[in-house]
Amino acid sequence: MNVLVTGGAGYIGSHAALRLLTDGHAVTIFDDLSRGNRGAVDALRPLGDLCFVEAELGDRAQLDKALTDRSIEVVMHFAAKAYVGESVEIPLQYYRANTAGALSLLEAMVACGVDRFVFSSTCATYGEPPPEHIPITERCPQRPVNPYGRSKLVVEHMLRDHLHAAGDGFAFAALRYFNVAGCDAGGRLGEDHDPETHLVPICLQAALGRRDTLTIFGTDYDTPDGTCIRDYVHVDDLIDAHVTVMDALRPGDSTAYNIGIGAGSSVREVIDASRRVTGVRFPVTEGPRRAGDPPALYADPSHVREELGWSARYTDLDEIIASAWRWFQAHPDGYGG
Ligand code: UFG
Repeated sequence: MNVLVTGGAGYIGSHAALRLLTDGHAVTIFDDLSRGNRGAVDALRPLGDLCFVEAELGDRAQLDKALTDRSIEVVMHFAAKAYVGESVEIPLQYYRANTAGALSLLEAMVACGVDRFVFSSTCATYGEPPPEHIPITERCPQRPVNPYGRSKLVVEHMLRDHLHAAGDGFAFAALRYFNVAGCDAGGRLGEDHDPETHLVPICLQAALGRRDTLTIFGTDYDTPDGTCIRDYVHVDDLIDAHVTVMDALRPGDSTAYNIGIGAGSSVREVIDASRRVTGVRFPVTEGPRRAGDPPALYADPSHVREELGWSARYTDLDEIIASAWRWFQAHPDGYGG
């Protein structure tokens, strides 16, 4: 198939492009490189039929050209800004990139007759679910508590409204991810954010000596060890879910799936696993809570398992971290190294 991957130079999007190329699909990456890495595109080039368009989603002329020139049949939409804290400071940029960006893309798809859309949504659309909704099913009320979550939730509404009008002329699936971690098993792609705010890469940078310490954001949560609990899903499993969903999309479909392993790990458990995997007892400091962090978020992934037969193959935190560690060891300076 001919697939447009927006954000294909980013961490998750590049792993999607890798899998699609490996499966023999023709891939067009559409990325403005504001957050993505040219090095990821370069690593993908030898692997198959890849075209790279460096442009913003607001650039309708480039979007229309990419969709028609490459006879795109399905879009996987990853391009987004994804820092919760930053979204509070510069909310309009989040609505511009995430909401208006998706609108521009959808309008271009309609104009060019492309009718299948796989959307990278987030568990942040659930906000801070009450304890009776943990683990989180897709029926949990979506009440985001930050602009990032809201900027993505509006897109889900937009897709549903468009489907209502277009009927069998459109199909979409929204994948609500939990915490994505790990790197491609072949060691070609990795995780390289600037700035880095995510727990697993920060642990590994600390193990490499690239950071003096790691701060635990809050040790007084109402959880067994006092630190926040999250559901860490391996990026290869996440992408496997995308491909499974893409293959299953039928005209008129409108679905949402929670993508996680279905179990939570605390911040302390991630630190312990990172120390075990790396063999480095990097220093850790205890600090205050980070604003907007819910105490516990993990998925009930039974809907996607029952409907599509998908479940995570990596369920062991050490294995997930080990796959990331291989890449961080080989690329201590990320794609720049
Ligand atoms: N944490 C620390 N120290 C750090 C970094 C993180 O203690 O230096 C903690 C956080 O407070 C949180 C946990 O580690 O409790 C995980 O934090 P991450 O920043 O790795 O991930 P988040 O859970 O904040 O964010 C993820 C996705 C977002 C998504 C969000 C939904 O990365 O895109 O889940 O809650 F919006």
